[in-house]
Amino acid sequence: MNQKIAIIGFGTVGQGLAEILKNKQSELNQKYGYAASIDAISDLKFGTIYDPDGLNVDQALQEIKTDRQFTTSRMDWNAVDTIRYCNADVVCELAFTNLTDGEPALTHCTTAFESGKHIVTSNKGPAALAFHQMKSLADRHNVFFMIEGTVMSGTPVLNLASGPLAGCNITAVKGILNGTTNYILTQMESGMTYETALRQAQKLGYAEADPAGDVEGYDARAKVTILANVVMDTPCNIDEVECSGITGITSENIQSAKSQNSRWKLIGSVELKNGKLHASVHPEMIPMTHPLAGIMGAVNAITFSTDLLGDITIVGPGAGKGETGFSILSDLLKIHRLSEETLS
Ligand code: HSE
Repeated sequence: MNQKIAIIGFGTVGQGLAEILKNKQSELNQKYGYAASIDAISDLKFGTIYDPDGLNVDQALQEIKTDRQFTTSRMDWNAVDTIRYCNADVVCELAFTNLTDGEPALTHCTTAFESGKHIVTSNKGPAALAFHQMKSLADRHNVFFMIEGTVMSGTPVLNLASGPLAGCNITAVKGILNGTTNYILTQMESGMTYETALRQAQKLGYAEADPAGDVEGYDARAKVTILANVVMDTPCNIDEVECSGITGITSENIQSAKSQNSRWKLIGSVELKNGKLHASVHPEMIPMTHPLAGIMGAVNAITFSTDLLGDITIVGPGAGKGETGFSILSDLLKIHRLSEETLS
């Protein structure tokens, strides 16, 4: 069955997803019997386009390059109209992250669920601020709320915990959860200024639309909140996570750590101790002998502490166009697999 997709927010991740779907079309079909069409795209800047028989994605990508807006198949719909009235089975919610009240993504998600459409998202707002409400609304409407891309982009973290690690009790999660800050700290160690490193991280598509979300630790705090709620199944409000970022770390601090055979890293952690949750994000000076000290650039790493397997560490990309685009693809394929299982 052809999976019909609507994309809400056609920035870095949306374009990354569109390119992957286009380039891998025949491979995905051959290997997994997966066929998809992008029927609707709605973006604040570029406008809305819709074709119930599938859009010409090449043309859409070309139009935003040359005209800075969509011109063919244009509709008068805003994002909410698009979600409500288009024929998609799955809405990929890829609009900007808002960690204050989660909007407009929260409204996008509730509209999709109430219209009987699945949500796949890398947007941290709804997952960090309202995971349980979103999940139960999706369950009530018999659709999925899939959020693999919210933590460590396409590196499988949430699906690893709920899939292969099912049966293990996860008692603590700790790691480097933000690509932008790890990239900045890495570049500063090689002599680059903080400002230049941040500009590069923006250019490479790692940073949030408002990079304060990265450097002040708010993005990592959202991920810690998601890990607590989703992986450790322990209710955690984002305000309960102690948080400080990397803005106070100077080049001198970095060189001084180096001379002590250590490195500054922004560490997010969540742990259950005697039934009480401890969650925090803050910079730590890590000895070079520690595995997290070797994680450089926009790479992230997470260690799960489990009862049956001890520590499991996964290292991989934490941000980026194709990397986050892939996270969306992995959830789309999961929906395809689950739908095929239900049909058979
Ligand atoms: N700005 C985020 C980061 C993007 O740098 O990790 C991925 O969540």
